[in-house]
Amino acid sequence: MNPKNILEVRDLVVKFKLSEGIVHAVNGVSYDVPEGKSIGIVGESGCGKTVSSYALNRLLPPYATLSGQILFRQQDGNIIDIAKLKPEGREIRAIRGRDIAMIFQEPMTSLSPVHTICNQISEALILFQGMTKKQARNRTIELLKLVGIPQAERRVDEYPFQFSGGMRQRAMIAMALARNPRVLIADEPTTALDVTLQAQVLSLIQDLQNRFNLSMILITHALGVVAHMVETVNIMYLGRIVETGPTMEIFEEPLHPYTQGLLQSIPKLTGRLGERVSSIPGSVPSAYDIPKGCPFEARCKHRMEICREEMPKPVTVGSEHTVYCHLYTGREAARDAANA
Ligand SMILES: Nc1ncnc2c1ncn2[C@@H]1O[C@H](COP(=O)(O)OP(=O)(O)OP(=O)(O)O)[C@@H](O)[C@H]1O
Ligand code: SF4
Ligand SMILES: [Mg+2]
Repeated sequence: MNPKNILEVRDLVVKFKLSEGIVHAVNGVSYDVPEGKSIGIVGESGCGKTVSSYALNRLLPPYATLSGQILFRQQDGNIIDIAKLKPEGREIRAIRGRDIAMIFQEPMTSLSPVHTICNQISEALILFQGMTKKQARNRTIELLKLVGIPQAERRVDEYPFQFSGGMRQRAMIAMALARNPRVLIADEPTTALDVTLQAQVLSLIQDLQNRFNLSMILITHALGVVAHMVETVNIMYLGRIVETGPTMEIFEEPLHPYTQGLLQSIPKLTGRLGERVSSIPGSVPSAYDIPKGCPFEARCKHRMEICREEMPKPVTVGSEHTVYCHLYTGREAARDAANA
C-alpha cells in the first residue's frame, strides 16, 4: 500500500443475487484515497456510486456478494483488508463507529425520529470515546455550534422533526464528526436541500474537511459540485470507473465521451444547485446484463465496431489521468514512441 494513502480499493465487485437475476452493481472498481485529501465519485443515477461506497463500511444487504480488496490504514499503522472482514464482526463495527463515517442524502435515514438530537449524538461519544453523559452533552452542544445550529444549548434537546431540512443535514454532519472519523463519505449530501442551503452545507463540509484533515469521498451526480471541493475525480458508469484524474484536468480536458456529456449538460435555471438537464441521450442501462465491450457503447456517438466486442483498456494520458475508451488506444504507445 502506498504510504500516502489511507484507503486503496482494488478490483471491487459487488453483485446482488435476486430471484429475477444477478444485479452487477459494481464491476471492478479501483481507486485510492490519499490521507487528508478528498476525492469525488461522479456519475448518473444507478452507476454504482452508493453501492461501491457502502461496501467500504460493509453496509450491504446479506444477498450481496463482494470481492476485491479494500485496504485501510488503521490509526496504529496496521493495514486491514475490509473486504475480508465478517460483515457484522467486531472489527468492522469499530471501523464504522470510529474510522469511516457517512453522511447520507436523506438525514432521516440515519437520524432516529424517536430520540432527541442530544441522545443520538451523545451515544457515539459515550460508546466510542468513553465520555460521561455530561461530557457527551457538552461536546454535542459544541458540535452543533460547529455545524452552525443556532441556539444549540436549547435545540440539543429537540427531536429531528423539530429541525428544518438544512438543520437536520447539519445535525447529521455533527453526528458523523462526533466519531472523530478519519474518512468521511458524503453521499449526495445536499440534494435534498434547496439551492442556497446546498451551497452552505457544501462549504461547511469543505471547511470541516480542511480543519480536521479528513480524508473524504464526495459522491454526486453533478460534476459542477466537485469542481472546487475535491482533488481527484472518478467518473463512474455502469459499475465501472471510465475516467479518473486531477479535477482540473478532467474539467479542462475531459476525454471519455461520457465525461464530455456530463460536462456539456446544461444547468437548470430553476432547479437545485448542480442539477442539470442531461445532454447524453438515453439512460443508464439495466445492471442485470452488462455488455462485454464498453459499458457506454449503447449511448456513445463515437462508437466503433471494436467498442461492442472489447472492453477498453486503461490509457494513461497524464501523470494521473486515465481513460477507458478505444478512441485513445494507441495514444500512450504513440507518446512513448515520441519520447523514445
Ligand atoms: N439493495 C439492492 N438490491 C438490489 N439492487 C440494488 C440494491 N442497491 C442498489 N442496487 C442496484 O445497483 C446499481 C447501483 O446502484 P447505486 O445505488 O449504487 O447507484 P447510484 O450511482 O448511487 O445512483 P443514485 O445517483 O441514484 O444514488 C443499480 O442498478 C441499483 O438498482
Ligand atoms: S470505447 Fe467506444 S463506445 Fe466506449 S466511450 Fe469510447 S468510443 Fe464510445
Ligand atoms: Mg446513490
